[in-house]
Amino acid sequence: MVWGDGPLIRTLIASFIKLLLMASYNLSINGKTYKVEADPKMPLLWVIRDLAGLHGTKYGCGMAQCGSCTVHLDGNPVRSCTLPVAAAAKQKITTIEGLSDDNTHAVQKAWLAEQVPQCGYCQSGQIMAAAALLKKNPNPTDQDIDTAMVGHICRCGTYPRIRKAIKTAAQIMAKASN
Ligand code: FES
Ligand code: FES
Repeated sequence: MVWGDGPLIRTLIASFIKLLLMASYNLSINGKTYKVEADPKMPLLWVIRDLAGLHGTKYGCGMAQCGSCTVHLDGNPVRSCTLPVAAAAKQKITTIEGLSDDNTHAVQKAWLAEQVPQCGYCQSGQIMAAAALLKKNPNPTDQDIDTAMVGHICRCGTYPRIRKAIKTAAQIMAKASN
């Protein structure tokens, strides 16, 4: 047997190649800087959860199909499970933990008032999508809501309460600005 063909040398070579691929990033997440070493192709979701230790953003499908991993990049909703960290590195990342300091964002208040969550798994993605919608469109119609929330899957079927809560959040925001 040739030593160089063994599993150990293959593992060492793979680890070495992996190290060569690593890059260093200073990520702005929720107003704080996180210094991380990651493969530039690593999905942002892994970085947020495994390297930054922020577990509010959830893994659902891993294929940009369910919305549970939604975070904001410079205020715009993105699906972090398919976005390489390199593409997010220079933008401001906001996760559910950074939406407000004390859970008093209008969407969070409305979600509580309307008792939206059931199992809760999809809800951080739903809330982040709703917050991004209301930032751009403070008085959305049912159609606007359906368009913005399309592809945000809730296996518990909380869709009617989500729609109601977005309207409640819009009212809370309107009152606050008067
Ligand atoms: S986990 Fe990202 S869209 Fe489903
Ligand atoms: S609340 Fe259970 S999946 Fe949405």
